Amino acid sequence: MKIAVMGAGAMGALYGALLAEGGNEVTLVDAWQEHVQAIMEHGLQVETGGCLKTFSVKAVSDPLLLGVQDLVLIFVKSYHTEVVVKNIHHLFHDGTAVLTLQNGLGNADIIAAAFNKATVLVGTTSHGATVLGPGQIRHAGAGDTVVGKYSGKIDQHLSDIAAEFTRCHLNARTDDNIMGVIWGKLLINAGINPVTAICGVLNGELLKAENIRQMAKLLIDEGEAVARASGIELPYNDTFAVLEKVAAATAANRSSMLQDIMSGRATEIDYINGAVVKEGEKCGVPTPCNKFITRLIKELEQRGSDRC
Ligand code: PAF
Repeated sequence: MKIAVMGAGAMGALYGALLAEGGNEVTLVDAWQEHVQAIMEHGLQVETGGCLKTFSVKAVSDPLLLGVQDLVLIFVKSYHTEVVVKNIHHLFHDGTAVLTLQNGLGNADIIAAAFNKATVLVGTTSHGATVLGPGQIRHAGAGDTVVGKYSGKIDQHLSDIAAEFTRCHLNARTDDNIMGVIWGKLLINAGINPVTAICGVLNGELLKAENIRQMAKLLIDEGEAVARASGIELPYNDTFAVLEKVAAATAANRSSMLQDIMSGRATEIDYINGAVVKEGEKCGVPTPCNKFITRLIKELEQRGSDRC
């Protein structure tokens, strides 16, 4: 398959590397020039469990350099989705599918507004990865990939894409209740990401530090109430137990929000806890903890390294 991966951060680079290793013709597209240059010159280096492996994968900064693709994988930060989709129409022909595995809520709607809804695939990933530097990432925890259709039922095309991802060690499966799966992942991110970012700890700390665990639990409980009131069928009976499993599987990982705060980038808080607040307002469910933590993260974003 010809695959363009928009956004070669930790997750985009990981997916691109594994899909390329499996024989797909992959191009990573990222605005970070130094990263692109390092990948082109030395390959993408992926550290897994202390071992370093180099993957040969193409990388460019400008999507205009690419032609038509079979699959476009969107992995940019959520706040870049709108701009990115405007600039990639030339990558599409009748059979091209577009898949978002981004964190948070709202990306699929932006993508579906820009392309033919029937070609839009949505899903989640629970792999954990960290950018170490230009051309280098760490695969800090293996997880799975769940995919579904934005509109309509699972078809052969989607099943084939999932099978290809699995063949490339990305452990994929299809699910008809994909909105439930996305909400399930949203709640995991709502619990893990802001507390690890504020406390400056690896995901594994959630299993050890009682205060951190309790904060995550409060955030998840509110999110679960919003999901229930919005008619979402969550995929798990006990979301917090799943959060503990994800934290254990990605114990050595810095959450994406912690990575964003550490690098002085904007975070995806508006699409994660901010989205829980917004959905809560729509269905009349109060979300004081998610509101509070959203403001705290926004303050951290604004201050950057300017703290006494
Ligand atoms: O955003 C993240 O960091 C990831 O989605 C997860 C699963 C919480 C692992 O770090």
